[in-house]
Amino acid sequence: MSSELEKLKRKCEEEVKNSPNAESFNGIRIKYLGRKGELTKILRSLKDLPFEERKKIGQQANILKKELEDLISGKEKELSTSNFQFPTSNFDITKPGKKISRGHFHPLTKIDEEVRQIFTSMNFSVVEGPEAETEFYNFDALNIPSNHPARDVWDTLWIKNPKSEILNPKQISKLKFQNSKLLLRAHTSPMQIRYMENHNPPFQIIVPGRVFRYEATDASHEINFYQVEGLMVGPAVTLANFKFVVEEFFQRFFGRQVEFRYKPSYFPFVEPGLEVEVKLGGKWLEVMGAGMVHRKVFDAVRYNPGQVQGFAFGMGLDRLAMLKYNVPDIRLFYSGDLRFIKQF
Ligand code: DAH
Repeated sequence: MSSELEKLKRKCEEEVKNSPNAESFNGIRIKYLGRKGELTKILRSLKDLPFEERKKIGQQANILKKELEDLISGKEKELSTSNFQFPTSNFDITKPGKKISRGHFHPLTKIDEEVRQIFTSMNFSVVEGPEAETEFYNFDALNIPSNHPARDVWDTLWIKNPKSEILNPKQISKLKFQNSKLLLRAHTSPMQIRYMENHNPPFQIIVPGRVFRYEATDASHEINFYQVEGLMVGPAVTLANFKFVVEEFFQRFFGRQVEFRYKPSYFPFVEPGLEVEVKLGGKWLEVMGAGMVHRKVFDAVRYNPGQVQGFAFGMGLDRLAMLKYNVPDIRLFYSGDLRFIKQF
């Protein structure tokens, strides 16, 4: 290459290299490649040269022109994308970023999901029942007739003037023979009856659901809360089966070995009835009511008590959540207080 072109090239390269920002390239481009630019000048002066030299330098100059063009626009592009500068005022890049809050499940939803998972893995089916129930399912069919003193255990929310439209004709005809007053179910046990009316043993189900009580609220009482009912019926289901199922459940629920204690208790729909206690943090805590299904309950659903037997249990989901998460007051679950909810 002629020394003149060589010099020009180095000069231009130097200038491009030292360019502080993308804007300065236009000036460089004009200076070298513009109509009156330095390279253009050389190209124009070629006409005065002898043919052979004109041809040689002409070629070189054209190649250089292309080279310089690429060099300038390449560097220009690079600078225009990478020269973003943080504003220097009022902007502290060392400050921790703001956390974007994510949605998540309510603690009771999490416990509900966990309970369902453990039982379904033991081959239990999950069924659900209506929250507005009839007196028949909530009480009578569970061996708690109108005059039974045990009715007082379930402080019931009765529904005034129930509208018959909410029941289908088949239900209405059946209710002529049943106590049809409506109430908000006080426990999930009525679903035992509904399920057995439509299914034959053997089966094993759980019934998670919301229940209602007409009660003064305090740290361990709410007017509505959640229960999980369990029912397993077959030709030879025994308390030994019950013991295995609940112990397996609680061990998996609490994630470790826990101690169990069984106490005799009374519920009209089981015989014998019992209470299950687990030892947590050195204390015995009641976690479940249970028992062998009472023959009068089988009578109500027209099962033959001589041919089937089974166990039933009921537990409070809120109580399980309180034990697992160390929540001191059941009302927190329903407070809608995000400071509480966000901890889970
Ligand atoms: N339904 C009872 C209650 O709400 C709990 C219960 C006790 C359910 C014993 C059962 C059972 O199935 O066998 O207090």
